[in-house]
Amino acid sequence: METLQLIQERQSARGPYDSEHQIAKDDLRQILEAGRWSPTAHNMQNFEIVVVDDKKLLSAIGEIRYPASETFIRENYRQLSFSEEELLRKKVGILGTMFPPSWRTPEAKPEASERFNPSQGKNIQTGPVLLVVVYDPGRRAPDSEGDFLGAISLGCVMENMWLMSSALGIKFHVVSSLSAGQVEKEVKSILNIPGHLRIAFSIRLGYPSSTGKYLRVRREVQDFTHHNRFGSKGID
Ligand SMILES: Cc1cc2nc3c(=O)[nH]c(=O)nc-3n(C[C@H](O)[C@H](O)[C@H](O)COP(=O)(O)O)c2cc1C
Repeated sequence: METLQLIQERQSARGPYDSEHQIAKDDLRQILEAGRWSPTAHNMQNFEIVVVDDKKLLSAIGEIRYPASETFIRENYRQLSFSEEELLRKKVGILGTMFPPSWRTPEAKPEASERFNPSQGKNIQTGPVLLVVVYDPGRRAPDSEGDFLGAISLGCVMENMWLMSSALGIKFHVVSSLSAGQVEKEVKSILNIPGHLRIAFSIRLGYPSSTGKYLRVRREVQDFTHHNRFGSKGID
């Protein structure tokens, strides 16, 4: 496959995966190999990856119940469009229908009984694989404020594995909600992740149980390209 085509066809697959359709060990190894060769600041290789395919562990993680934070709901709302026309016009952000109704208003107060994300919890449980990428915040890239360079490096790991999965026809869903607050504490406890490590992000891997197409939008190249000086849009 052409490189640009692979990049364009990589996408998020947020729906449920078929719990019976396992990921071949060889494919999993290739995805981890792609992560292994990611560029990282100072070649720090600032990541460890917990591969979770044990049904009991997946079930325990999917059962975690905590309301989404009010900050998340407020800031999430700013990225939402409420129709395909609106999203096509804005060219950035995502469709509101991807989120539970209670998250689609800026002043929503999530229910205490709610899962951190109702559909994600269920989808994690059906597996077949969840990758939990962790890092040591005590080992920052040299003189990098807020370890910004370390965070970019973790992003490179994500993208390398995403492209590899895509090339193998394996679907990929980044799950950020396991990385903060009480949810992160519980996931770390379930997976025996040492206290000093943080969860950067998690990934659901699998084969979808139903085909779900959704609208993907991007700005045009000339919308974000500045020729020589900022403000001089495009390169023509
Ligand atoms: C750092 C990062 C965190 C993300 N977190 C989530 C997440 O928690 N849940 C989710 O469904 N998608 C998550 N995504 C996926 C983005 O929403 C997605 O890439 C974007 O909407 C573009 O859609 P596409 O991946 O289909 O091109 C994340 C992506 C990145 C790079």
